[in-house]
Amino acid sequence: MLPGILTDMTSSAGMAHIGVVGLAVMGSNIARNFARNGHTVAVYNRSYDKTERLVADHGNEGTFVPAATIEEFVASLQRPRRALIMVQAGAATDAVIEQLADAMEEGDIIIDGGNALYTDTMRREAAMRARGLHFVGAGISGGEEGALHGPSIMPGGPAESYEHIGPLLESVAAVVDNTPCCTHIGPNGAGHFVKMVHNGIEYADMQVIGEAYHLLRYAAGLDCAEIAETFRKWNTGDLNSYLVEITAEVLAQVDAATGKPLVDVIVDQAGQKGTGRWTVKAALDLGIPVTGIGEAVFARALSSSVAQREQTAGTLPSGKLASPIDPADRETFVEAVRRALYASKLVAYSQGFDEIRAGSDEYDWNIDPRDLATIWRGGCIIRADFLNRITEAYTANPDLRCLLLDPYFLNEMEGLVDAWRHIVVTATELGLPVPVFASSLSYYDALRAERLPAALIQGQRDYFGAHTYRRVDREGSFHTLWSGDRSEVEA
Ligand code: 6PG
Repeated sequence: MLPGILTDMTSSAGMAHIGVVGLAVMGSNIARNFARNGHTVAVYNRSYDKTERLVADHGNEGTFVPAATIEEFVASLQRPRRALIMVQAGAATDAVIEQLADAMEEGDIIIDGGNALYTDTMRREAAMRARGLHFVGAGISGGEEGALHGPSIMPGGPAESYEHIGPLLESVAAVVDNTPCCTHIGPNGAGHFVKMVHNGIEYADMQVIGEAYHLLRYAAGLDCAEIAETFRKWNTGDLNSYLVEITAEVLAQVDAATGKPLVDVIVDQAGQKGTGRWTVKAALDLGIPVTGIGEAVFARALSSSVAQREQTAGTLPSGKLASPIDPADRETFVEAVRRALYASKLVAYSQGFDEIRAGSDEYDWNIDPRDLATIWRGGCIIRADFLNRITEAYTANPDLRCLLLDPYFLNEMEGLVDAWRHIVVTATELGLPVPVFASSLSYYDALRAERLPAALIQGQRDYFGAHTYRRVDREGSFHTLWSGDRSEVEA
């Protein structure tokens, strides 16, 4: 079919391959992406002017079927109908789902492409299943550009719905090594769960990059242009990734109004919409230590604690601080920061994959970690070269209990750990905060440890609460009669 706008509802009835509801930037861009790839796309927005604007501005990119009502929209879709919701997560999503479900028929498919909380997706999937509809919670990553040119797509929901939506979604996803960055992740909430953890990793990744920048600036004394250049160089090696690439761009940007580096005129309070926080909450429930992601979420929270920071900044005593890095040692220091960044980043990914495995076990999703590493190589915000190494690690050993145990990463850690320690010590002596560098190193050391102070905690718990403990040399549970003769009894 030739590009065009089909407005005559009698001729367009049942013609659209897919429909998009919600035409803010992400929704418009993904609708355009479908149209550009030869699909006839029905488009609907609560206020019709956005729909009109989309077809007026981009109608020449493919075939759009603008609909003024949800009923018209549904009627314009081929069966089984496929409607992709791109509205704000939460109540707006529920409202659109209800409207669509009322107008749809058995076997039709609703896809939620927003950043929904996976438990909401599980609830919605069950409710739609009861009505004979398919509900697919699909994580979509890549921001505005990704939506237009090829995002990474993480669809959950019933496996059989993937037969009807898979080829369509794959045709608009990013492609790496001839493989589309889209695959069925698992039933009900699996897609949104992995998107949530993707965002958690994104938070940690952004924070470690921030910590590296902060050290280069305030420990090594580099200026923004020099740091931008450093990140540009790093982006050609192990750290090659979208986030490192854009960091160089942001740091090189000069504010037109003041002539200062843009980063110096941006208020240093990081926002968050909630996916990072959800990742940590879910990890707490699953009992998985995602310390890097947790510290990254808390670092954003601390940055935004304005009233507290106003009182504490420059007031709390620092103690005796070390002197900044001698210019003669700069080069070595910069390389050590790169290694600390790389090591902390590996820990964040390892923890994220641990959480995904735990979620998959808890909800019987059967998520294959290789799939994730594969579809995160392109399109998404955390796309990075080393995801290839993660795919290889899980291909060699699908039951890998810790990513860091893979021979490739073990070898990498061998070369990183000394510098990582040095950087955490130096930052501490200089009084510069490195919450993710430091907590990731502690986590790593805890993983390495033969003995942990948890034995003492068990003793304390037994002392005040008779919670019992197990012994290293005998089976069973034991309790010491702390307020009696302190002999041990079997519990
Ligand atoms: C993506 C992004 C995207 C968005 C997040 C993060 O994968 O395309 O993660 O989903 O940028 O909402 O936003 P916050 O930093 O505001 O939580």
